[in-house]
Amino acid sequence: MPNLCNLDGVIVPESEARIPVLDRGFLFGDSIYEVVRTVGDVPFAWPEHWARLVLSARAIRLQLDLDEATIARRIAATLAAAGHGDSYVRLVVTRGSGEAPNIDLAYATGAPCWLAMVRPLSPMSGKPAKLALIDRLRVDRKALDPATKSGNYLNSVLGLAEAKALGATDCVMANHDGHLTEASTSNLFVRLDGVWCTPPLDAGILAGVTRALLLAFLPRCGERVAERHLVRSDLLRAEEMFLSSTLRDIGPVTHLDGRALHGGGPGPRVEALLAKFHEFVAQRMRDHDGPRWRGLCSRA
Ligand SMILES: Cc1ncc(COP(=O)(O)O)c(C=O)c1O
Repeated sequence: MPNLCNLDGVIVPESEARIPVLDRGFLFGDSIYEVVRTVGDVPFAWPEHWARLVLSARAIRLQLDLDEATIARRIAATLAAAGHGDSYVRLVVTRGSGEAPNIDLAYATGAPCWLAMVRPLSPMSGKPAKLALIDRLRVDRKALDPATKSGNYLNSVLGLAEAKALGATDCVMANHDGHLTEASTSNLFVRLDGVWCTPPLDAGILAGVTRALLLAFLPRCGERVAERHLVRSDLLRAEEMFLSSTLRDIGPVTHLDGRALHGGGPGPRVEALLAKFHEFVAQRMRDHDGPRWRGLCSRA
């Protein structure tokens, strides 16, 4: 079965889907998106992802023309047609096709374009990361707030490329104040003096769904957490570090700037936390996400 996608309500193989050359997402990165993973045919943490999509739309002055139930039904139909089981879902909304290749919103007369890509989920949960703290800064909140999950990802594309050129697998970027922000597509947690610290939203980061879940979940595992500004020297004295994201869950950091941490493997706490997080996901799917998703998809 080829990878499928749902383009404006029509299910087509990914290789046959076509975006018009005047689409503003293609021309200007004038789009927003979410990456969701499913357990079987049900997305995990869908309410959080939908809520963030709505915020991203508001932040870029994009009027969403379809409601949550319509999009849920499209995704459910595409997942059913693909039949992959655990899946990766990328939901993209562009500002649609303009009348001309002109950035002015006055030319953005077309309806938004809705694309949902569905692929088998590659196993990334708990994937370790080798981090490099790179010179490139995270884009400033006042320029283009990283809290908006827009299709304009060049800051991360280049950050990741630079980290890879240094032999790492991911980057950490600081902001203009020298405070650490996040990795290319993950949030950062650093254990300092027995407390899991993660940069606050005002450092200029994406409000990660996994990050928010972990801020509530870690204390239930007996761990202390804090949102706190972090600087380079904090990385050097960290007891353990991990990256969080929808695809990675909790991914241990095993190297920093080419130096192996705790023998080059995961730190002692991270593996236990990951196992507990998997239990939490399974329980939330059973008790909450599964019933809610099915209710949403059957809404008239
Ligand atoms: C820049 C950035 N930070 C953090 C994350 C993690 O967010 P989430 O946990 O919602 O997947 C992502 C995910 O794509 C991201 O792109």
